[in-house]
Amino acid sequence: MRVAALVLAAGRGERLGASIPKAFLPLAGRPLVVRSIEALAAARPVVEVIVPVLPAAERARFAALARDFAGAERLAEPVAGGAERQDSMRAGLAALPAGIELVAVHDAARPLVRPEDVGRTILAAARTGAALLATPVRDTLKRAADGRVAETLPRAVCWAAQTPQVFRVELLREALAKAEAEGFLGTDDAQLVERLGAPIEIVAGEATNLKVTWPEDVALAEAIWSRRR
Ligand code: CTP
Ligand code: MG
Repeated sequence: MRVAALVLAAGRGERLGASIPKAFLPLAGRPLVVRSIEALAAARPVVEVIVPVLPAAERARFAALARDFAGAERLAEPVAGGAERQDSMRAGLAALPAGIELVAVHDAARPLVRPEDVGRTILAAARTGAALLATPVRDTLKRAADGRVAETLPRAVCWAAQTPQVFRVELLREALAKAEAEGFLGTDDAQLVERLGAPIEIVAGEATNLKVTWPEDVALAEAIWSRRR
């Protein structure tokens, strides 16, 4: 089974509002994108190639990083991302080497993913064709309309989707082609595969695999990191 990963790092980090792109903010002294690459590189089954998808203007910044981290030797040539996350995913998918069977799509903004959870998600996708890490939601979810509660969603069946999300390469390509033909833009990759009606396995992950999104998440990520060591 040949596995590759896309590390999506081409966002602007608008909610974070830092002076540098979010993927280059440090976590324990190394950029989030590097921490994410390290986590993918430590997973078993082995991820043989890791494709960084970066803002077009930041590829030089990435190239200037010292290649002294786990997984550096498995990096493919960085790819320029696009305006939307789905565009960045498409660019990464197009850059996969021939012969790759499974692709793990991961947000660079989730540097705390545990390698064992990456591995469990890869194994699940190897069985079923598609799998994602997710956590049961803690809060009761309300659907809102015009600032008012429209309905309460049944919490027991709700999961918060994380990454990595792992797919058979051909399945994700087909899902992306269908979404694009229909003008559909998803906020994660599994949504595109759902629209094919293909089964997607949920792998129960950890709330600590947070997506660094808001300024306060930086300190939270540092705290989780330091508690682990
Ligand atoms: N991403 C990407 N290309 C985009 C948008 C997002 O590769 N056009 C990546 C981000 O770099 C991030 C992941 O997708 O690692 C999840 O996106 P998000 O957390 O929303 O990051 P940003 O889009 O950078 O943040 P914001 O939405 O606050 O601007
Ligand atoms: Mg975004």
